Amino acid sequence: MSVIEKFTSMEYGPAPEDPRESLKWLDRYKHRFSHFIGGAWKAPRKGQHFETIDPSTGEKIAEVAQGSAEDVDAAVKAARGALQGWQSLRSHARAKYLYALARQVQKHSRRLAVLETIDNGKPIRESRDIDIPLVARHFYYHAGWAQLLEQEFPGYQACGVVGQIIPWNFPLLMLAWKIAPALATGNTVVLKPAEYTPLTALAFAELCEEVGLPKGVVNIVTGDGTTGEALVKHPGVDKIAFTGSTEVGRAIRRATATSHKKLSLELGGKSPFIIFDDADLDSAVEGLVDGIWFNQGQVCCAGSRLLMQESIAEKLTKKLQMRMGMLRVGAPLDKAIDIGAIVARVQLDRIERLVQQGVAEGAVCWQPEVLMPSRGLYYKPTLLSNVHPSSIVAQEEIFGPVLAAMTFRTPQEAVELANNTAYGLAASVWSESVNVALQTAAQIKAGVVWVNSTNLFDAACGFGGYRESGFGREGGKEGLREYLEPAWFSQSPTLPKTKSKKGDPVDVANPAIDRTVKLYIGGKQARPDSGYSFEIRGKNGKLLGESPLGNRKDIRNAVEAARKAESWARTAAHNRAQVLYYIAENLSQRAAELTHRLSAAVGKKQAAQEVQLSVERLFSYAAWTDKFDGAVHNPPFRNISMAMNEPLGAVGVVCPGDLPLLGFLSLVLPLVAAGNTVVAVPAEKYPLITADLYQVFETSDLPGGVINIVPGRTTELLKVLAEHDGLDAIWCFGDAELCATAKALSAGNLKQVWTNEGRQIDFFAQRQGEGSFYLQHAYQVKNIWVPYGE
Ligand code: NAI
Repeated sequence: MSVIEKFTSMEYGPAPEDPRESLKWLDRYKHRFSHFIGGAWKAPRKGQHFETIDPSTGEKIAEVAQGSAEDVDAAVKAARGALQGWQSLRSHARAKYLYALARQVQKHSRRLAVLETIDNGKPIRESRDIDIPLVARHFYYHAGWAQLLEQEFPGYQACGVVGQIIPWNFPLLMLAWKIAPALATGNTVVLKPAEYTPLTALAFAELCEEVGLPKGVVNIVTGDGTTGEALVKHPGVDKIAFTGSTEVGRAIRRATATSHKKLSLELGGKSPFIIFDDADLDSAVEGLVDGIWFNQGQVCCAGSRLLMQESIAEKLTKKLQMRMGMLRVGAPLDKAIDIGAIVARVQLDRIERLVQQGVAEGAVCWQPEVLMPSRGLYYKPTLLSNVHPSSIVAQEEIFGPVLAAMTFRTPQEAVELANNTAYGLAASVWSESVNVALQTAAQIKAGVVWVNSTNLFDAACGFGGYRESGFGREGGKEGLREYLEPAWFSQSPTLPKTKSKKGDPVDVANPAIDRTVKLYIGGKQARPDSGYSFEIRGKNGKLLGESPLGNRKDIRNAVEAARKAESWARTAAHNRAQVLYYIAENLSQRAAELTHRLSAAVGKKQAAQEVQLSVERLFSYAAWTDKFDGAVHNPPFRNISMAMNEPLGAVGVVCPGDLPLLGFLSLVLPLVAAGNTVVAVPAEKYPLITADLYQVFETSDLPGGVINIVPGRTTELLKVLAEHDGLDAIWCFGDAELCATAKALSAGNLKQVWTNEGRQIDFFAQRQGEGSFYLQHAYQVKNIWVPYGE
């Protein structure tokens, strides 16, 4: 073909990347790998290996060690052994190691990119231009944090030994997201890569050797889910960081419930890609190519649900189909292809099965006439239209190059459809109107929203989910907090086990005392559904009164009321602050009678302290309400990313048992200041304080439903709260058993759980009892990316 002919047809010829350097590297290891433990290559104790396959050819690339519980144990011990030495280094020394790793990644970037592509099937264009540069960026960024750690996080310490489990879709990038912040904060690491893509993690182990990283600081154990499970269950691990499927995330939540392991989960998504009628449609179509066909759609934050405004749906679909016809599916090492291979046969089968199910449910499947390779695991770019919002293809993560399209009429409907999912990882919003785009971004329940852009990542910008997409953030300052804890918290003594109270409920119709205490739900005093009360006795055994005995139904009513009051989140912070000040004013006017009543339960001294500090705490959180701001990041593109502190939603609170008033307010106030609504179970010891509290709330302009109070048996009510799908989070402060129950039972909808880990918290001490430690848990960060320039 002549140059002129080529110029007219504009057809691509093959542009294969040379894999020789990577193959040489594999040859050096004779295509057979051991674990990397304690700075050395260690053969698996049980001698088992498994194959890793090139999905574009089906050929075996190498054999990799299958990690057993013994291997995991050896790695955890190595990490534990290295911990003290690593932590005793100056932060500057740790910064230098991270910097050296960043440089080393850059020096070997092409080899790593090719290796990634061979193992995973992703286009070399992506591994070369996106994955590996982001890996280097992550290590540079965290080298910076290592340097600044002591200045920026005084009083904090590392969690210790961290177990990290990563998926196969961005193998080296996910490793970087895990290892860089863990090392920067002084932790040591055992990382398990995914079974389909272990090679770049092993190549990274070699980089650790090359930079002379102290032995045992990074350990890599390869294997399948059973290896991951052994790591999760290992008692020597202090924190688990996991990225993968929601199902496994749920299992890990349950498996870690009875331990003090800190947990962060980055799980699946079904992210909306919303295009309004005033959007630049050509840009939006290019955005879609990146949103759903990047990495064959095997992206947790893929824009897999297309929501088009009805008036442009036809025009947009045509443009999209035309563009899809130009996508090139082919050998991943070809530099001119757009879509590579699917990672493994099971994944391809899953995509096929879900698409068939979607079609059976009424979706119309469209695929372009594109050339497909004759061997290997490939799937055509696919558009499903006529998709019902409840269809499996609109609800379940397909994790493949499949776009499910729906239409909407109004911005409000777009938001409702966007939020009609159990997930909440990301969203993409396209409109030329800044008002429409930002108003939509604000209403979407997701950890990342890209305006007129998609799939942008940077180490400085936190990434992570709302709802069943998990909790915790990776990247940014908030990502570091996942690997740190206040030193006082880690060192606090364990609370003794709470003795469960016995005693028959008494008939509420026959009150023995003159004061009626009720539940407080939706701004109204309510009788308990059970019709029972329970006796409350003071220090000397004297009957102080009877408290209503809340049950499952009362909690359900309270959750409904809390959900209805969600406009509290949109109330201006200035106004929320005023309500808290007003509560303080009214509480302080009742100080004498409150102290008197509380004295009977906790003694005079404690009562006086509790009341006085409660007023102060109210002032503190009123002060914080309009000051706990987010941040604006400057990623290295023409974008700003606004890290907004958003409330979690409706939160169940189990209050500390020994401080009826101060304990209640210390947990409820930061949540309410942040814009959450609350269902609180007051201390079982003296729930009678409820009556004083709601009388104060009623006279302080607190909107009904923002704080709901259901007294009763703590253990029983906690179970109902933890299992309730209408709650977004649980804060539970009690003994270790109570905390474990909260974690285990909340796995259903993966609500965020924050507990005192069964430790004794000194709520009288300002450092332990109030402030940013609480507020950080009362918010979740949403990053809204906005491009600028032409
Ligand atoms: P997966 O969640 O099973 O695997 C992720 C990682 O967890 C791997 O390293 C695996 O070995 C490990 N693992 C598996 N079971 C474990 C257990 N019980 N305890 C500890 N670790 C365990 O994901 P899989 O099976 O590879 O993919 C299935 C589906 O999950 C995909 O189709 C996709 O929908 C979703 N997925 C989502 C990802 C995300 O980033 N959100 C990443 C990978 C998969």
